[in-house]
Amino acid sequence: MQIRVVAQASSVAEGVAREVVRQLNKKPDTVLGLPTGATPEPLYQKLVEIYRRGQVSFAQVTTFNLDEYLGLGPDHPASYRAYMERHLFGHVDIDPSRIHIPDGLAPDPDRECQEYEEALRRAGYPDLQILGLGRNGHIGFNEPGTPFGSLTHRVRLTESTREANRRFFPPGEEPPTEAITMGVRSIMQARRILVLATGEAKAEAVAKAILGPVTEEVPASVLQLHPNVTWWLDEAAAHLLEPDLRWVDRSL
Ligand code: GLP
Repeated sequence: MQIRVVAQASSVAEGVAREVVRQLNKKPDTVLGLPTGATPEPLYQKLVEIYRRGQVSFAQVTTFNLDEYLGLGPDHPASYRAYMERHLFGHVDIDPSRIHIPDGLAPDPDRECQEYEEALRRAGYPDLQILGLGRNGHIGFNEPGTPFGSLTHRVRLTESTREANRRFFPPGEEPPTEAITMGVRSIMQARRILVLATGEAKAEAVAKAILGPVTEEVPASVLQLHPNVTWWLDEAAAHLLEPDLRWVDRSL
């Protein structure tokens, strides 16, 4: 495991954008695993800027998003499909037929989960998986207690996650109670994983995931078992790590 600590959230976005661009330029038909949430927004903005400068193309890239709310269609502004259009897909040359996001309106969600996992398997799983981190240590929507052996599945969201994500919904609208998420095992199939965490609110989850025991109670702790993980943290998210683990790289 590698830990990169940089001064601020914009430097995390810069560093990760460079890693993504390097990967796409080396392997144009990369399979990319993508997260949503507030943390990756500046990353997507950087990627769009780099694309506009003509320094990267998404034309042959295949993407798989980690998760989607059950009950929300692409027209709902808080759906992850709409988020991805707004922040990345709507601004770059990606081929829509290579985009994969679980269908929040699938009439048979269990079947949708099986088909999603099957599509991941056929694509060979991501070359590069980017992850955010929930305040309770979740990855994708794999809440504490999710078996490490889980594949893409249907989940009931914890109250704390619904509360944390309420800000993305129009006032007065309740966030959904369920979602479809890639499982812990599906995520662990990726060849390389970059985890992004910024801000004080993530510091405890970061410390538990990196320093604590590997336990299903902290889903991100499973990443200690993956051979190629880099954590990208700003100073605030890293501040509960040992001083020698949070040396700040100020070159970005
Ligand atoms: C949601 C997403 C996760 C994301 C997490 C953190 O629950 N399903 O994939 O990592 O939120 O989000 P944020 O970056 O907004 O803190």
